[in-house]
Amino acid sequence: MSINVGIIGTGRIADMQLAPAMQQVAGARLWSILSRDNKRAADFAARHGAKAPVNAHTSLAAFLADPSLEAVIIATPDALHAAQAIAAARAGKHVLLEKPMATTLADAIAIADTCTEERVKLAIAYHLRWHDGHQRIAEMLHAGTLGQPRYARALWTWKADDNSNWRAHPELGRWWGLAGVGTHCIDLLRWMLMPQCGEVTGCSSVIDTSLYGGPHDETASVSLQFDHGTVADLTTSVVFSAPSRFELYCDDAAVICENTLGPTGAGSILVNNAPLEFEIKNPYVGEIQNFIDSIEGKARVAVPAAEGIRNVELLLDASPSE
Ligand SMILES: NC(=O)c1ccc[n+]([C@@H]2O[C@H](COP(=O)([O-])OP(=O)(O)OC[C@H]3O[C@@H](n4cnc5c(N)ncnc54)[C@H](OP(=O)(O)O)[C@@H]3O)[C@@H](O)[C@H]2O)c1
Repeated sequence: MSINVGIIGTGRIADMQLAPAMQQVAGARLWSILSRDNKRAADFAARHGAKAPVNAHTSLAAFLADPSLEAVIIATPDALHAAQAIAAARAGKHVLLEKPMATTLADAIAIADTCTEERVKLAIAYHLRWHDGHQRIAEMLHAGTLGQPRYARALWTWKADDNSNWRAHPELGRWWGLAGVGTHCIDLLRWMLMPQCGEVTGCSSVIDTSLYGGPHDETASVSLQFDHGTVADLTTSVVFSAPSRFELYCDDAAVICENTLGPTGAGSILVNNAPLEFEIKNPYVGEIQNFIDSIEGKARVAVPAAEGIRNVELLLDASPSE
């Protein structure tokens, strides 16, 4: 038996990554699509083979009223997540929610509380945790093989053509580069460092908005201090593109990841200047597989609500005013 999964939103991540990845997930079946536009929903459903007898919807209520729909993936602009996730949970559907969870802390907490009340699974979509190379580093780090982490940094940027994207505007977004990629860097740093370094206890930032002059971060440089003293930096930008980098410096190892921050599961990793072997695995397959396995009671949710809430809190700390 497969779990019937609907997707809300037919945009870039849903079309390029999530729906194709679902084809490779054991126990998942793409069931139905919700879009603002019926033709977009129908085209998406046909392109990706959604199996419901009525597989294209423009009404959230009608989409959720389908008793055969068991789970939803929400891939819409960040400010829409809360209303959609809460409605899905109230309808008894499990939720895989794109990052960042929400644009306010109150919304993130309300999503989590509703999913708990309704006893549905809630997973937050931080796909970098399923990059095979990252998993190998985490295993070595958490086993103590690399020694105590002392410093880490992540750089992830892209060059936007203009400021027309919803992330640049307060109606649908709350952060730009920080929501596009910075939230992933925060998750990666906390996932890697917290077992040895404790929780993040301090956050400071420098935010630049000078090219477009809008309310949201164009370039952001954020420093995080972990409880046991380790410092981590992350830099995001929408005004220049650069090879992504993740660097981790421990007592016994220097780890340099180039171009592993991205959608593909690829890139290269050096540990003390020696290449680290890893498999190129589609990280979205791992992410959705974990969600399905959690619904089936075979695994715990790898990135639960508490991680998403803390991430929103840190994004707000890094960028306190709009
Ligand atoms: N984990 C990752 O690797 C990753 C990567 C990229 C994005 N994301 C996350 O996924 C979510 C979607 O991002 P995206 O890059 O896919 O965005 P996108 O390309 O703009 O797609 C968003 C989709 O949401 C739907 N939508 C509903 N109401 C909307 C509105 N008022 N304005 C615009 N779109 C609306 C649209 O589908 P319809 O037109 O069919 O309604 C649209 O295509 C965000 O939360 C983002 O942070 C995650």
